[in-house]
Amino acid sequence: MRLSSVCGLLLLCVHGNSVDAGSIFDRSSSHNVQRRETNTKRNFSEVMVTKMTVSTTWYISEGVTAVINCTTHTDDGNYSDKMDLQLFWTKMNPRERIKKVLVSQRASKGISYVLSPVTHEHQGVYTCDDDGSFPNVYVRDWHQILWVDDASPRASIDVVSHSRSQFFNGETFSVSCQLPDDDTQWKMMRFNDFVGNITECPNRVSSGRRLSCTVRSEFPWADVLYWCETPAGERSNALNITTMAGVMVALESPSLPVLEGEDVMLRCLHKNRTTNKITSNFGAIFYRNHRRIRVTTEGNLTLTAVTKADEGIYKCRHPVDGPSHESWITIKARPNEDQKKKNDDVIKMP
Ligand SMILES: *[C@@H]1O[C@H](CO)[C@@H](O)[C@H](O)[C@H]1NC(C)=O
Ligand SMILES: *[C@@H]1O[C@H](CO)[C@@H](O)[C@H](O)[C@H]1NC(C)=O
Ligand SMILES: *[C@@H]1O[C@H](CO)[C@@H](O)[C@H](O)[C@H]1NC(C)=O
Ligand SMILES: *[C@@H]1O[C@H](CO)[C@@H](O)[C@H](O)[C@H]1NC(C)=O
Ligand SMILES: *[C@@H]1O[C@H](CO)[C@@H](O)[C@H](O)[C@H]1NC(C)=O
Ligand SMILES: *[C@@H]1O[C@H](CO)[C@@H](O)[C@H](O)[C@H]1NC(C)=O
Ligand SMILES: *[C@@H]1O[C@H](CO)[C@@H](O)[C@H](O)[C@H]1NC(C)=O
Repeated sequence: MRLSSVCGLLLLCVHGNSVDAGSIFDRSSSHNVQRRETNTKRNFSEVMVTKMTVSTTWYISEGVTAVINCTTHTDDGNYSDKMDLQLFWTKMNPRERIKKVLVSQRASKGISYVLSPVTHEHQGVYTCDDDGSFPNVYVRDWHQILWVDDASPRASIDVVSHSRSQFFNGETFSVSCQLPDDDTQWKMMRFNDFVGNITECPNRVSSGRRLSCTVRSEFPWADVLYWCETPAGERSNALNITTMAGVMVALESPSLPVLEGEDVMLRCLHKNRTTNKITSNFGAIFYRNHRRIRVTTEGNLTLTAVTKADEGIYKCRHPVDGPSHESWITIKARPNEDQKKKNDDVIKMP
């Protein structure tokens, strides 16, 4: 979806190419045209688009089963019977961040890779790509990070400049980690699902036990995951950021999980193409899990005393400039102590 909106710009990148770039974008769902940049001068006779899915999600808990599927999404030249697809894995652990092949198999068969039960060891970047045996075929690779939640990380990361995780092209925002009070060295890292690399966040500032990074939303626009880590592999929580081009509507929503019972304010933001001003005082439609939940006249919506049922994918729509990207709102159960206290209170009631 994002790609279709930056198509105009990316088309410039495929100058001189025999491939009909429009068709790549039409069928793409969201990912990875990294090689477009590096291969601008190359002559491709065919296009192949890979796709990777996981059942059930890329952000999981230990102990569950995950199935990663790597397939060809489109194959105009019928290369699937001649070419191998590969599933790569780059381990999460900073000391072992080396890309290696997990499975290599004829593309027509597809790859289905089962992790059961999932452990912290399985974390890392998974890439679905070809084996490079047909240089005339432009193959779009697909990257995802598999993240296994830690129950109570000692460092916590958040967006400190805004109360949202979607940013317009050219906007500047800051993310910051609160670190534990000891001597451990931490770095702020990020993973860009467009490029597929884990890199250290640039422009870092450290002050006391706080590590911050200021970022400008710019090409390559993507879903970017931020976290802090130690050389030994200890990590903070993860933060999802969407940086976007061409889209003039953004949803303002909590970037981190919200506790059950809290109120959550959503705002629909619109950036005016002419004035570049960001406003939210317009009639907006809000959606959860692709279904319309509210039409507002003010551009904002408060979810009161949220429960697990409010969890899901949200977006909003501007009357002229259309929908925003989607963001997850995750609702967390209150910690046990509170729960226990609540139960006690209930019991005490006459
Ligand atoms: C692309 O391929 C065509 C035909 O195969 C060839 O004539 C042309 O020179 C090539 N262009 C580049 C930039 O390699
Ligand atoms: C690929 O296969 C389909 C169905 O067999 C056929 O219609 C199409 O012409 C083939 N494409 C190429 C480029 O060979
Ligand atoms: C993954 O591939 C397996 C085997 O081909 C298939 O049974 C399963 O439905 C696929 N799962 C998804 C989520 O596509
Ligand atoms: C991604 O990582 C690979 C391997 O470390 C490196 O060769 C490549 O230059 C990196 N790409 C970017 C855009 O940082
Ligand atoms: C990040 O986004 C994914 C979906 O794209 C979602 O499953 C996950 O819960 C999000 N993580 C956080 C920390 O919000
Ligand atoms: C953008 O701002 C201009 C000038 O204030 C206004 O005329 C125009 O209607 C605005 N566009 C949108 C889509 O709100
Ligand atoms: C919601 O929007 C209205 C109209 O723009 C504004 O008056 C109100 O303060 C907003 N509410 C919040 C909580 O921002």
